[in-house]
Amino acid sequence: MNRQWIYRERPTDKVALTHFEWREAALPVAGPGEVLVRVQMLSVDPSQRIWMAGPSYRPMLVPGTVMACYGVGEVVASKAPGFAPGDRVEGDLGWQDYAALPAQALRKRDPARSIEQLVGALGITGTTAWIGLFEVGRPSPGETVLVSGAAGAVGSIALQAAVLAGCRVVGVAGGAAKCGRLIAMGAHAAVDYKAGALRADLRAACPDGIDLFFDNTAGDVLEAALPSMNVGGRIVCCGAVSVYDQARAPAGPRGVPALLIARRLRMEGFVVLDHAQRLPAAESALARWLDEGRIVAPTHVVQGLAQAPQALLDLLAGLNVGKMMVRVEQPPGA
Ligand SMILES: NC(=O)c1ccc[n+]([C@@H]2O[C@H](COP(=O)([O-])OP(=O)(O)OC[C@H]3O[C@@H](n4cnc5c(N)ncnc54)[C@H](OP(=O)(O)O)[C@@H]3O)[C@@H](O)[C@H]2O)c1
Repeated sequence: MNRQWIYRERPTDKVALTHFEWREAALPVAGPGEVLVRVQMLSVDPSQRIWMAGPSYRPMLVPGTVMACYGVGEVVASKAPGFAPGDRVEGDLGWQDYAALPAQALRKRDPARSIEQLVGALGITGTTAWIGLFEVGRPSPGETVLVSGAAGAVGSIALQAAVLAGCRVVGVAGGAAKCGRLIAMGAHAAVDYKAGALRADLRAACPDGIDLFFDNTAGDVLEAALPSMNVGGRIVCCGAVSVYDQARAPAGPRGVPALLIARRLRMEGFVVLDHAQRLPAAESALARWLDEGRIVAPTHVVQGLAQAPQALLDLLAGLNVGKMMVRVEQPPGA
């Protein structure tokens, strides 16, 4: 049997467990050109909530289908050249035990790396941080870099990479405990956006202003950071997690475009999937830093496919430190 979570219906407000349904289906079979993969680790991503809301950089999720999810697994059967049982692969495997996918939808990964690294620092998480920071933001040594969502998966890597680039780095996260983690990861200062004095705290933490803002959250944090941006500063729009899980995105932030004009700011969004040609450079830099112990890649691993919907809810509620992922246990009878 193939245990699956079906995406049942589109949320009209916050996503809830009731938007998913557990099902046991027949084991899929790989057709010509396809590969059968046993799913081993699922990446829990805020973007899964975006895919429910409407068309984005990918088509909107269709109710009644297996919940889409990037993950890493092991090939168990192949009818495609270049893939053999035992290979480790990544792709949009979905919330299920097994996925039969066309070979071109899969990418082979290094089996010598831990699966946590492949899903986290050496997966979309790490490459998003590297590409957003170095290809879009382009920091210079000595600049002040602000990172929001800094205790999360992408943010924690972006923060450490900016420290390695010789910048003065300030992280923003929710709560004193997470802020403590930011200092332990090398941040020069940390701001708790839930402490009630966000704008003043940001100003105090960035006495020379902000040159580069790597923004994972948008919303209140973006609005509060804008007045501290230096002339000629850059805002890298990586994500907007503060507005994903609600019926309607709020208008704003206030200050756009007036402050963009007055401070000559560049505000630029990016999608990591557009930068495939830079993936090898990103992955090799990240792998080197990990191996040399120059960065840490915190993970938050949830056990069991049954927990996948709750893990997504917990991620959106900020219960994670580092990369949230779900380990899919060996399916019954495998
Ligand atoms: N552009 C791209 O290609 C690309 C690729 C991957 C990811 N992303 C984006 O990168 C961002 C981070 O993703 P991730 O996978 O690393 O997730 P993550 O940061 O590990 O997890 C989400 C975090 O968002 C924070 N959060 C939740 N509600 C918030 C709010 N109202 N205001 C501020 N922070 C809030 C929580 O931390 P706190 O406890 O600190 O609130 C939570 O831990 C997301 O916006 C995602 O969409 C973009």
